[in-house]
Formats: sequence, structure tokens, C-alpha cells
Amino acid sequence: MTKLSERLLLIAKQVNNKDIICDIGTDHGLVPIYLAKGNLITKAYACDIAPKPLQQAIDNIKKYDVEEVITPILADGLNGVKGIKIDSCIIAGMGSSTIFDILQEDQTTIGRYIFCPNDDPYLLRQWVKDQKYFIEKELLIKENNYIYEIIVVNKVAGHKVKSQKDIAFGVLLHKEQSALFNEKWLLKSDYYQTLLGQLPEKSQRYKELKKKLKLINKMI
Ligand SMILES: C[S@@+](CC[C@H](N)C(=O)[O-])C[C@H]1O[C@@H](n2cnc3c(N)ncnc32)[C@H](O)[C@@H]1O
Repeated sequence: MTKLSERLLLIAKQVNNKDIICDIGTDHGLVPIYLAKGNLITKAYACDIAPKPLQQAIDNIKKYDVEEVITPILADGLNGVKGIKIDSCIIAGMGSSTIFDILQEDQTTIGRYIFCPNDDPYLLRQWVKDQKYFIEKELLIKENNYIYEIIVVNKVAGHKVKSQKDIAFGVLLHKEQSALFNEKWLLKSDYYQTLLGQLPEKSQRYKELKKKLKLINKMI
């Protein structure tokens, strides 16, 4: 099958053996297909809000002969898996605010989430804190010159999100301080510094960025 990108492969690896999964915003369906072909999951629901990407998933599911394991569903967010027991729910490749909106339909039948947003996941960690859920794992992966965060959220066990530092930098990531972590925040610090030079000092945005920059520079 088409080789998974390193980011998608790392996301797929967070699924536990023989899990029932759903992949929200599945697009081409590559992650559930990879897992089904490897006999690594019991069942997958490949969901997308848009007919065109879902059709790509349907074509790929047929092509790779995994129709018995993967059910494609045209639905907004989690609406297609209401009432279905899901061990791991993947939501990747969209902005944190879109993922946050999807999570407003959070269901008790879902045990854990694997998030990989296209931006910084402040909103998602705030959501984990508010829901009193736990961080099971946090990972970083660099792809096409962007450093993505992968967050595995477990509803019953793991690490609590306690502080603003946890929300901004990750509960585990800021303790590990890996080379990739430092690279991510150095890049962000440079970016914010450049932005500051273009903003009027009295603007709200300037003040917000200045505050963020102070936090980042304290961290790295
Ligand atoms: C860039 S693709 C991501 C594909 C893959 N998950 C990845 O991480 O590479 C985003 C997909 O999310 C779908 N999407 C966006 N909002 C959605 C929603 N509310 N519910 C389900 N799918 C959504 C889009 O139609 C699109 O196919």
C-alpha cells in the first residue's frame, strides 16, 4: 500500500493492539487501512465530513481489500459513531479549534483520543483539564519543516494537566525538553519576535505576543 508519512505512521502506532478505532477526518483512509492490513485492529470507522475525501477512502478500502474491517461514514465529527464503543479515536490533520468543536460531542463510549492538530494544541489541553481527563503520552514529529504534537488522551489514567505551563508546552514534553522540543520553541520565539516588530506596541495582539514570548524564553 501507499507508504504512510512518518507523522501518520507515528499516529497509527499509538493505537493499541486489536482496538476498535475511529478516524475522524480520515481523508484518504490511509491510517485505518494500514492498521487493518497489518491485522492490528478489530474494527475501524473511517469518517469524513466531505463526500470527495470519503470517496477516496472508500476507493482505497476496496483497493486494499479491507471492507470487512473498515466502515466508511460520511458525518460531521463524532456524529457517525454515536453509541458505538470506540477504544481509540484519532483526530488529526485539522486545526485545534476544529478538533475542539468536534469534541463538544464527546461520548462516554470513547475511551481515548489520539490528537495531532496542524497547530499548537493549547485548546485541546485546556479541554483535557476541564474534562478531568488525562494525558497518556505526548510526542513530537517533524514533517515538511513543521513540528507536530501528537497527544494521547486517556479518560481514566495518566498525567493530569495542572498548570498554564502544562497547557502551553505539554505536561510531559516540557519535562523531557527534547532537542525537537527546544527546536520547536526556538522557531516559535523567532517567529513571534518578527511579528512583534510589525505590530503597534499599544495593540492587544502585541501585548499577548509579548506575554507568550516571555513564557517561551523562560522555557528554553
Ligand atoms: C487535511 S485532512 C487530514 C487527513 C488525515 N487525518 C491526516 O492527518 O493527514 C482533513 C480532513 O478532515 C476532514 N474534516 C474537516 N472537518 C471535519 C469534521 N468536522 N468532521 C469530519 N471530518 C472533517 C476534511 O474533509 C479532510 O478530509
